[in-house]
This record gives sequence, C-alpha cells and structure tokens, in this order.
Amino acid sequence: MATSIAEHALSLIDDGAVVGLGSGRAARNFVRALGTRVQAGFRIRGVPTSQATADLAHSLGIPLCRPDEVGRIDIAVDGADEVDPSLQLIKGYGGALVREKIVAASATRFVILVGQEKLVPVLGSRGKLPLEVLPFGSALCLRLLDGFGWRPQLREENGEPFTTDNGNYLVDCHIPLLPSPATWEQKLSAMPGIVGTGLFLDMAHTVLIQTGDTVQVRQRTRPDP
Ligand code: A5P
Repeated sequence: MATSIAEHALSLIDDGAVVGLGSGRAARNFVRALGTRVQAGFRIRGVPTSQATADLAHSLGIPLCRPDEVGRIDIAVDGADEVDPSLQLIKGYGGALVREKIVAASATRFVILVGQEKLVPVLGSRGKLPLEVLPFGSALCLRLLDGFGWRPQLREENGEPFTTDNGNYLVDCHIPLLPSPATWEQKLSAMPGIVGTGLFLDMAHTVLIQTGDTVQVRQRTRPDP
C-alpha cells in the first residue's frame, strides 16, 4: 500500500502529545494530515514554528500553544532543504529557521520529512545558507560574510527587506561545500547580529524520505550531544 511521509510521521505521534509543527511544504502536508486526525478526536497540542503554520493549524482546529507554555515538546516534525548522510541539515529557505530551531531543540524527537532531491553528499551542495540577522547589525553581518567570499544577499520581498516573524532580516549566503559544518556554526554564531543560522547540526533523530510510493526511514546513530 502506498504511504506518504506525512502519514508515516503521524503514526509516530501519541495521543496527548505536544507536537512541534514545522514550516514549508512538507510540514504543511503533515499539519493537514494531523488536522484530519484532530477532527476525528485525536488530542494533541501543536507548537507552530511560523505564523503561516499557526494560521493553517488554527483553521484545522488544532489547539496551539507557545514553547514557553509547555517547556518540553514531545516530537517536532518539519521539512529540510539539505540532509547529509549523517543527518546534518540545512534549513531556512522558507525563512522560519530561528523558531524552527527553538522548537526542534525543545523536542525529545525531531523528525524530518523530505523528498530524495534534498539528500546531499555534503552540506552546501545546493549552494545556499540562510541566516537570520538583526536589522541593526545587518550591514556589519553583510560585510563580515562577504569576507568569507559568500556573496551574502539580503532577502527581499516586493522591493523591501524580507522580515521574519521575529521582526528580523534574512541573509542568503552563496556557500561552497561545508565538510566541517560545526566549525562554521561556531564562527557564525559568534558574529554580532546573527540571531540564528540554517545549520541544524546533531538535531534530527529521524529522517523520512519519500521514495516514490514508499517511505525510507533513516535514524540517527549518534547519541544526543
Ligand atoms: C522553512 O524555513 C524551512 O526551513 C523549511 O522547513 C524548508 O525550507 C523545507 O521546506 P519545503 O518542505 O517547502 O521544501
């Protein structure tokens, strides 16, 4: 029987769970499937990672709460833009990376839903890394990132800087392959003005890959850092 990654993810959710709700296409499909279950009497609470996801979940009748209201999240389900063989990720093409990272880090289990096109041999294969920056520090960040040869660009929408749900800007960097992503995560996180990076390292526990009509499951083998 054909299975989708959204349905498979649904089978990992227990009644009564607090569920982190990701952002983007794959996460939206999951939220829709979850909404159908909630309408049939399944009792969960969702913690949305963006206003767009909150609006969708609300329209489906999913009860919502904030991370500070629940403390720990049982399971978070989200998409990704790159997944390497050791389940390290790049996220944030959709712009919700900081809330996504907070929800993922609050979750006991972080489940990623992707198609095969997101699997890469080395992070950086798709050539883009999004960063969320404080508007006040954006000029400094652009200058420092340019020093890495990353040709940073302020993301725009209708001719204006794109503003995240946190009121910040996004900088898209043209990156080379990053065989040592942890070194870059450390460097970038130390840069004044950077609020968060799209590198999600040692975070994913399970990656569900849509492979035609079937679902391939990859599990993290490393212990939690
Ligand atoms: C949103 O900021 C992103 O991190 C998304 O989770 C990621 O871009 C994957 O989105 P799709 O499922 O739409 O490809």
